[in-house]
Amino acid sequence: MAPPSWPPCLLLLLLCLAGGGILQPGAQPDSKGFISIDCGYPGETSYVDDTNGLSYSPDAGFTDAGTNRNISGEYVRPLLSRRAHNLRSFPDGRRNCYTLRSLVSGLKYLIRANFVYGNYDGLNRPPASFDLHIGVNFWTTVNLSSWSDPVGSLAWVEAVVVVPDEFVQVCLVNTGGGTPFISGLDLRALKRKLYPQATVEQGLVAIGRFNAAPTNKSYIARYPDDPHDRIWYPWYDATIWAELSTTHTVTNADYGLFEAPPVVMQTAITPRNGSRSIVFYWDAEPTPNDPSPGYIIVMHFAELQLDAVRNFYVNLNGKPWYSDAYTPDYLRSNAVYDIVPNRQRHYNLTIDAATNSTLPPILNAVELFSVIPTTIVGTDSQDASAAMEIKAKYQVHKNWMGDPCLPKTMAWDRLTCSHAIASRPRITSLNMSSSGLTGNISTSFADLKALQYLDLSNNNLTGSIPDALSELPSLTVIDFSGNQLHGSIPPGLLKRIQDGTLDLRHGNNSELCTGSNSCQLSAKRKNKVAIYVAVPILVILVIVSAAILVFFLLRRRNQQQGSMNNMTTVKPQNEEVMSTSYGGGDIDSLRIVENRRFTYKELEMITNGFKRVLGQGGFGRVYDGFLEDGTQVAVKLRSHASNQGVKEFLAEAQILTRIHHKNLVSMIGYCKDGKYMALVYEYMAEGTLREHIAGNDRNGACLPWKQRLRIALESAQGLEYLHKGCNPPLIHRDVKATNILLNARLEAKIADFGLSRAFDHDTDPVYTNAVFGTPGYMDPEYQATMHPTTKSDVYSFGVVLLELVTGNTAILSDPEPTNIIHWSQQRLARGNIEGVVDVRMHNGYDVNGVWKVAEIALKCTSQGSAQRPTMSDVVAQLQECIKLEEGRAHGFDAGVSNNTAFEMEHGVPTVATGPAAR
Ligand SMILES: *[C@@H]1O[C@H](CO)[C@@H](O)[C@H](O)[C@H]1NC(C)=O
Ligand SMILES: *[C@@H]1O[C@H](CO)[C@@H](O)[C@H](O)[C@H]1NC(C)=O
Ligand SMILES: *[C@@H]1O[C@H](CO)[C@@H](O)[C@H](O)[C@H]1NC(C)=O
Ligand SMILES: *[C@@H]1O[C@H](CO)[C@@H](O)[C@H](O)[C@H]1NC(C)=O
Ligand SMILES: *[C@@H]1O[C@H](CO)[C@@H](O)[C@H](O)[C@H]1NC(C)=O
Ligand SMILES: *[C@@H]1O[C@H](CO)[C@@H](O)[C@H](O)[C@H]1NC(C)=O
Ligand SMILES: *[C@@H]1O[C@H](CO)[C@@H](O)[C@H](O)[C@H]1NC(C)=O
Repeated sequence: MAPPSWPPCLLLLLLCLAGGGILQPGAQPDSKGFISIDCGYPGETSYVDDTNGLSYSPDAGFTDAGTNRNISGEYVRPLLSRRAHNLRSFPDGRRNCYTLRSLVSGLKYLIRANFVYGNYDGLNRPPASFDLHIGVNFWTTVNLSSWSDPVGSLAWVEAVVVVPDEFVQVCLVNTGGGTPFISGLDLRALKRKLYPQATVEQGLVAIGRFNAAPTNKSYIARYPDDPHDRIWYPWYDATIWAELSTTHTVTNADYGLFEAPPVVMQTAITPRNGSRSIVFYWDAEPTPNDPSPGYIIVMHFAELQLDAVRNFYVNLNGKPWYSDAYTPDYLRSNAVYDIVPNRQRHYNLTIDAATNSTLPPILNAVELFSVIPTTIVGTDSQDASAAMEIKAKYQVHKNWMGDPCLPKTMAWDRLTCSHAIASRPRITSLNMSSSGLTGNISTSFADLKALQYLDLSNNNLTGSIPDALSELPSLTVIDFSGNQLHGSIPPGLLKRIQDGTLDLRHGNNSELCTGSNSCQLSAKRKNKVAIYVAVPILVILVIVSAAILVFFLLRRRNQQQGSMNNMTTVKPQNEEVMSTSYGGGDIDSLRIVENRRFTYKELEMITNGFKRVLGQGGFGRVYDGFLEDGTQVAVKLRSHASNQGVKEFLAEAQILTRIHHKNLVSMIGYCKDGKYMALVYEYMAEGTLREHIAGNDRNGACLPWKQRLRIALESAQGLEYLHKGCNPPLIHRDVKATNILLNARLEAKIADFGLSRAFDHDTDPVYTNAVFGTPGYMDPEYQATMHPTTKSDVYSFGVVLLELVTGNTAILSDPEPTNIIHWSQQRLARGNIEGVVDVRMHNGYDVNGVWKVAEIALKCTSQGSAQRPTMSDVVAQLQECIKLEEGRAHGFDAGVSNNTAFEMEHGVPTVATGPAAR
């Protein structure tokens, strides 16, 4: 089975957009879930190694430190792989890192680093030692002297770890034992169930991985024989062990937790001369870092002889590992392994035949690991990503390598972090003054959500000040003085200054408008040169712009006057012209001629006397209708029985006349005829998303995952438009599966803007005194504060995403009322994605993609709005999920759709004390 591939992450996308320029195409995992880096390779594109078919990327996209070096010619031997011919050495800086991106946080990865010194520096003295870290956790000390030939041999270290973020950094730390270097770096995605001993808190470091008695004694098994590209060394000793082999295929047992490759399992050792035991032993190797190292042993067994009667005991230091005799299955591999690491000084492992066994024991393969704690978690993921983007954008060197805050001794210069016991470190201040920064102000500063102090003074920054900074809740001081910033201070920041919550220093920015006359002065200065040549043009421009300004001012006043209480403001100015000029064409051409006004009689005709009800909304029924040209429409008629809903009706009409987006239901016209009020919309043939999730659609079929993803993305785009494309932003306030409609092509559009309102809190006190929305979708923060924000819509959208993933309703009734968020959280916290996904999809999905969507949904439904992503973030992430799903659909990674890839850890036998047998 192929390893899981994984969705390229948002970070990557952002970095590319930000023009960081340091990432290259090779910087993403390939379809196998592999990243293979040739460190120090000077080429620009990756190459394929003929011996194993793997594609190696140059390392320029993964690190921005160190220098390329070639090993000395005499060490370039025929069997040495091409990527060992060069290396990257790090003479400067204490810590230098490679950043591997586009991972899935919480997934398990095998990481392997290779080293061939090859006298690259002509000193003939390999470094005595240096350390490797994975993220902020110590991995291992590299000591080339402990390898057979410290100068010429290929040394490697390998770890299996659970990665907490969407990226992982592998760092070389100079501990005074010589210049660190690296020849190659590999990352392989593993299925969650593999190596259950590798957890969030504990990583496995490979000490040995042996293929017992391979037929070809010089053959080292790895990819493609091992789809996970582990390296299996031949292990044999003809003087004490006889060899067994088969040409039949050896399969993995159902719950294979290790997936030893068949080629490795096809051979085995067994004792010679009728001896009844296989014995091997080693001593613990305590280090200053780990005085009492823990070991995990995994032994792989498969019977290779038909009708064998073979059973045996496994003993460690004379004590049985488990009480029963073990009988390997014929041509099926299984493993005997520890769950909890052993911590002893000496290890003497014997595999002894049981008394009634007619054959001596066998052993097909063995793996030995030491364990490392991985309990230290680095800086908050978003903070770290933002810091890395800032570093890339401004090409900061300093000591900006690895995690910004940890370990404290290597924290980034000019940056301060807060360290709390129960949470990840946050970046609280950043001083980049006098750092020669050029270009505009990175939007990534606004992603440092815990930032209190930001100093960018005395640089050469240009462009305008991003208003997003005003949304940083803790920010108290910003210093922009001494730059070349343009434009004016954005309103959000102005408000913070007026509130007294922010001290914004902006002196010495000659082009910045600060409310005083400095702006005009500088404008005058600038124009002086051109004024003589440009006078006539200028005059014309002034006249034209004045006219435009007057026009807009008038228009705006009209709109404001009419808000909420006077239907005439919704009316397009040339309504009569429109209703007569209207004659044909499709909905799009209608939209161009703006909204049509219908009479009640016309509506009667259109709907054939209000015959067919499409649905029932808050403020009345929705009827099916046909325009004169046959265009099908939906007519929402306000129930005139009550006065309720006039406001919502007007709000919606107003909004729909001014916004248009392909993922928002568009209005064709309206009716205000005496007591009758109605809105006429484009017809959404496939009804509501809710019906489709429930499976009550016309065919009773279940929406396939790919369709669900597309619907999620399209509705997210609709909401993003409301939040980002409208000024001021619009908050929908009633996002739910019944307000997402699908047209005949199953394209999703957001509907029902009755509760929507502009972001501006002050204009309409009516709305701030009550909480609107639908139970199950309502943002708890909004309920508490009565102040809706765009993040309230994000919350509701998160619920819709969970509906799409699970097929459930927002509130589950069985066995007792449960909120879908709580329900999903409980299952997902246990890693149980299978228990969450809509079973009706019958595995027709990429598990990583579903997992990712579930994660997005949970982020959207975070209790605090600050933790929730914006709709733009959501859109970007969903786009990545779609790419992933398309990759799957094209068959890059057929193995992934097999759900067994994500068996959950709790399915693993957990023998708490001592070893487990399988
Ligand atoms: C390393 O060798 C390659 C050719 O094999 C050459 O192109 C490159 O310039 C060399 N790099 C250094 C740093 O000497
Ligand atoms: C490296 O390994 C060699 C041989 O195993 C040992 O003698 C030496 O002390 C080690 N060096 C360090 C710095 O650990
Ligand atoms: C044994 O394996 C080595 C290394 O993979 C290879 O070069 C050699 O051709 C193999 N020999 C046979 C007989 O297959
Ligand atoms: C095992 O057999 C080999 C020959 O097959 C022989 O050389 C060796 O001495 C024997 N060892 C024992 C302990 O009998
Ligand atoms: C390992 O244990 C076996 C049997 O208990 C014993 O014969 C052998 O000498 C031991 N070896 C070592 C190195 O302790
Ligand atoms: C051999 O003995 C073990 C107990 O020592 C028992 O579990 C097993 O079933 C026996 N096997 C056979 C083939 O008799
Ligand atoms: C800005 O750039 C100019 C040259 O482009 C340079 O002379 C000046 O020192 C820079 N200012 C700062 C504050 O870095």
